[in-house]
Amino acid sequence: MNDRFLRALLREPTDTTPVWLMRQAGRYLPEYRATRARAGSFMALAQSPALACEVTMQPLDRYALDAAILFSDILTVPDAMGLGLSFAEGEGPRFAHPLRDEAAVAALEVPDMAKLQYVFDAVKEIRGALAARGDAAVPLIGFSGSPFTLACYMVEGGGSDDFRTIKTMLYSRPDLLHRILDINAQAVAAYLNAQIEAGAQAVMIFDTWGGVLAEGAYQRFSLAYMKRVVQKLHVEWDGRRIPSIVFTKGGGLWLEQIAATGCDAVGLDWTVNLGQARARIGDRCALQGNLDPNALFASPDQIRGEVAKVIESFGIVEPGVGHVFNLGHGISQFTPPEAVTALVDAVHDYGRRIRANGS
Ligand code: CP3
Repeated sequence: MNDRFLRALLREPTDTTPVWLMRQAGRYLPEYRATRARAGSFMALAQSPALACEVTMQPLDRYALDAAILFSDILTVPDAMGLGLSFAEGEGPRFAHPLRDEAAVAALEVPDMAKLQYVFDAVKEIRGALAARGDAAVPLIGFSGSPFTLACYMVEGGGSDDFRTIKTMLYSRPDLLHRILDINAQAVAAYLNAQIEAGAQAVMIFDTWGGVLAEGAYQRFSLAYMKRVVQKLHVEWDGRRIPSIVFTKGGGLWLEQIAATGCDAVGLDWTVNLGQARARIGDRCALQGNLDPNALFASPDQIRGEVAKVIESFGIVEPGVGHVFNLGHGISQFTPPEAVTALVDAVHDYGRRIRANGS
C-alpha cells in the first residue's frame, strides 16, 4: 500500500509530500456527472454503496492521489435524525423539518446507526476496491461534519449567508443550542467510530462554519464539542493507529486550541501561512492544506508555481513534522480536470525536491 498519507499525518518520514483534494470526487469530473445522472439524484448516489464506491474511485483512476475519501455527505447524520434532507437540482441542501422551536430540540435524539448502514457498507466496498489495487492501494478517509457545522444546517434548514437563525439561538437560547450540540457530538463520535470499524483508515471532521463564530463563542459552541468527539474516537483499530484531522475553515487564529483537541492533524485554509502554522503547532500536529482552490483556474505553469510556494512555505520536511498537501477548501465544480493533473504531479515533484536539496 502507498501509506505516505498516513505516515505524514503521524509525522513520520515520507519520500514526498502526499496529496488529496477536498471534494476530489465531484461535479468537475464528467464521469462523476454521468454516474450521478444514472443514480437520478445526489442522495440516491450517496445511498448506493456500489455507486458511491464507483465515484470514490474515479479521481484515483485519473490522478496519482495519495488518499481516497468516502463519497457521502456531512448531512447524512441529521437526515438519519429525521430532519428530511433533500438536494434540489442546482440548489444547496434543504431540510424539511429544521429545528425551530423548543419542542423540536427536545425531541432530537442520537440516531440509530443502523439508519446509516449504507455509509458503512460503502466504506467496506471501497476498501475492497482499493485493496484490489495491490501496491497502488491508498488509504481511505472517513469523515463527518463538526457538531456546530451540522447544527448550522439543522437550525437554518439549509445554507445561509449570515447564519442569523442559529446565531439568534446562540445568543438568546444558548441552552437549546447546547442540547443540539451535545446530541450531535454523541452522534458524530458514534458515526466516525462505525466508519473506522467498517474500514476507514483516517477520519476528518469538517468544521466548515466554525470560523463565522465570535472569539469565545467558537470555543464554547464549536471547539469544545469537537474536542469531545476527538476524545471518543478509536485511537487504534485492527492494530493500526487511526489518525484524525480537524479542519475549521477560518480557524487560523485558533490553531493552538485546535491542536489541543488531541487531533493528529490540523486542516488549514488558504489564509494561513504554513511556515507560521508549523512554528505554532508543528511539533504537536501534522498540517494539511492549503492552496486556494481558485489557483486551479490558472495555467499549468502557474499552478506549478503556486504549488511550489505552498511546499516552500511549509519548509524542509524533517522527522517529527508532517505536511499533507490539499486545497484550502473543496475543489470548485468549474475546475478543468487537467488542472488537477498539473497540481498532483507538481506536489510530488516539489515534495521530492524539498527533501533531497533542503530547498
Ligand atoms: O470530498 C469528497 O470528495 C467526498 C465527498 C463530500 C461531499 N460533501 C460530496 C458532495 C464531502 C467530504 C462533503 C462534505 C460537505 N458537505 C461539507 C463540508 C466540507 C465543505 O465543503 O465545506 C458541507 C458543508 C456539505 C454540505 C453540502 N453538500 C452542500 C452545501 C452541498 C451543496 C453545495 C455544493 O457544493 O453542491 C452538498 C452537496 C454535495 N456533497 C455535492 C457533492 C459532490 C454536490 C452535489 C451534486 O452532485 O449535485
